[in-house]
Amino acid sequence: MGMKFLEENLLHYLRRPEFAELRTAFHTRTFAKGSLIYSPDEKDNLVFIVSSGRVRVYLAYGDKEFTLGILGTGDIYSSHTETFVQALDDVELQVIDVKAFRRRMVGDPEVTKAMVRVLGNILKASFAIIDGLVFKDANCRLIALLVTEARRHGISEPDGVRVDIDLPVEQVARLLGATRQTVSTLLNELVRAGLIRKVARGQYLIPDVEALDASADGLSCR
Ligand code: HEM
Repeated sequence: MGMKFLEENLLHYLRRPEFAELRTAFHTRTFAKGSLIYSPDEKDNLVFIVSSGRVRVYLAYGDKEFTLGILGTGDIYSSHTETFVQALDDVELQVIDVKAFRRRMVGDPEVTKAMVRVLGNILKASFAIIDGLVFKDANCRLIALLVTEARRHGISEPDGVRVDIDLPVEQVARLLGATRQTVSTLLNELVRAGLIRKVARGQYLIPDVEALDASADGLSCR
């Protein structure tokens, strides 16, 4: 089954004669490309189906934005999700009051299918965002740990500063609030980037402490 068929499914389905009355409860609303359709403080409680254009669902904190999903024709969503909803194109929505939606559409298998598809994709994107944040956070703290150790207790050597963490990876992981696997991956990435070199168990050589410290700038730690 092609994606196109699935995407158009809900709108086609609602064109059936048995939904003639339900269709009168829907209102068409249009939004210009780039405009904000809903924001987290939205008062109206509506469910909408996208009838044309693409719609971006995202979270925003200061200057950071996390896209949760991009909705297309036939996708269903609502205004009470405390997310931003933005028109990526000139957009047309079919909106219905949440109460009318609950009375007449909840439990319909086609509607449920459309909801599960949208919400499943948004949940998947949310997991990836959480994963990225945890990873970034652990990476920031790992770099801070290595830089601090180098500055306080580092031993100067001809080709860098040697730090002796003297802890098994499990303990470093607990220190950083990450898993052993995450710490191993992050250490390997720092080695691959040439920012650290593994000398022995728990011992690392940092060729350029300032460069290691500066590498955290790109992560916008803190
Ligand atoms: C396809 C997307 C969605 C649809 C069609 C939808 C639809 C609905 C409907 C029909 C109700 C029942 C309203 C009533 O009983 O009057 C409801 C309740 C609720 N929804 Fe959604 N929803 C969607 C997504 C979401 C998301 C993503 C969230 C949270 C992030 C959310 C949070 C809630 C909450 C908290 C309630 C309970 C509100 C209350 O009882 O006061 N919904 N939704």
